[in-house]
Amino acid sequence: SGRNYRNFWPLDYDVMSDYAKSVVDSVSPTTEEIAMKDDMLRRISEICDKLVPGSRIIPFGSLVSGFATKGADMDVIFAHDAIDPQPFSLESNIPVRLASEFLKRGFEVDLLIKTRVPILKLKTPSKESLSRPGSPLTENGLGEAANQEEPWPENVSCDIGFKAHLGITNSHFFRTYSHCDPRFREMVLFIKQWSKNRDLNSPYFGTLSSYGYVLMVAHFLINIVQPPVLPNLQLIPPPADTPASELSQEGYNIWYFKDLSKIASGELLPQGKNEMSLGQLIHEFFQYYTTNFNFVSECVTIRTPGGVMYKQQKGWTSARERVGEMNNTYQDRYLLALEDPFEISHNVGRTCGGGGVRRIRGEMQRAAAIIRKISTPLTNDGAPHGG
Ligand code: CTP
Ligand code: MG
Repeated sequence: SGRNYRNFWPLDYDVMSDYAKSVVDSVSPTTEEIAMKDDMLRRISEICDKLVPGSRIIPFGSLVSGFATKGADMDVIFAHDAIDPQPFSLESNIPVRLASEFLKRGFEVDLLIKTRVPILKLKTPSKESLSRPGSPLTENGLGEAANQEEPWPENVSCDIGFKAHLGITNSHFFRTYSHCDPRFREMVLFIKQWSKNRDLNSPYFGTLSSYGYVLMVAHFLINIVQPPVLPNLQLIPPPADTPASELSQEGYNIWYFKDLSKIASGELLPQGKNEMSLGQLIHEFFQYYTTNFNFVSECVTIRTPGGVMYKQQKGWTSARERVGEMNNTYQDRYLLALEDPFEISHNVGRTCGGGGVRRIRGEMQRAAAIIRKISTPLTNDGAPHGG
């Protein structure tokens, strides 16, 4: 079974695997950076709790999934029981008041309200901005809070959202998956870095988010490569005593298997362990998406057996306009169809335009060809196989 892409000559992936591992090592954050971000989370939480007692900061994204690269932004949600269940409203003024708390500490602050959910974008002050003459921090009054506090690490960005959402759940979901096999995280970091190097990671400019690439890697490792590297955690039925909070959220099925001891024992992968090297997996990933996956008619759905549906089945065929929560409109496009694992009405690939999809495919072909070249063993006369 599986969908076949075959290499005529057996390839030797040692060079590619070593290269991929060196990329993964060079983009992985150091333990100091991870500790520094934990400390920042704690300090940001304290500021929020002081402003709105009982509020809390919930991290999500790559901080939680473990897919962070060096210098990655921090993604968090400001949650409070009083406002949590309500859609956020500007009248509550909390984002504005919070913004001013960080402004007086010298942070760069930007409050976005045209997004699907409002976002407060923060960046810790750099040394130059603190010592600049005329800086609010050097003048009376405004700088007090900052002067009493320990300095912040420089140039760290943190986005604060104001509505709890499935992003928290999907980050824990992928964290669980990354505990199933170390090659998942390694592949994600490599593909993320490749997509950034090749300028294919700009959701605002017609290509795909990092999260979209995570879905593409997960689909390949769960549903395509044989034997699979990852089990399908969403297809294992929930035990009878599972609390309702683990079964559904916002009307979506959010159940997935979380018992790490069963995951580690390998019993969820009855076809046996996949022993492929990182280099081979990356090559087959690019080959699959350039020769087997049909971008025009197919949709990635990692939750389903087989992991592929037709766009037609989902009704994801022509672009349409949608009105968002803040009354702004969005284009829903289906040129690249990647179904979110929980919010199954959401196409994570909707940010991709026609040009973006073409460039992603072209770059995948280029990558596959390069890997083939460096992995083709030499014959006795020193020429590569295959001419
Ligand atoms: N997310 C989501 N739906 C999307 C995009 C993102 O739910 N369409 C959530 C996911 O929980 C994801 C988080 O937002 O983990 C952050 O997404 P993204 O910025 O794409 O990933 P990062 O790992 O933060 O990558 P980068 O380092 O490129 O910022
Ligand atoms: Mg991010």
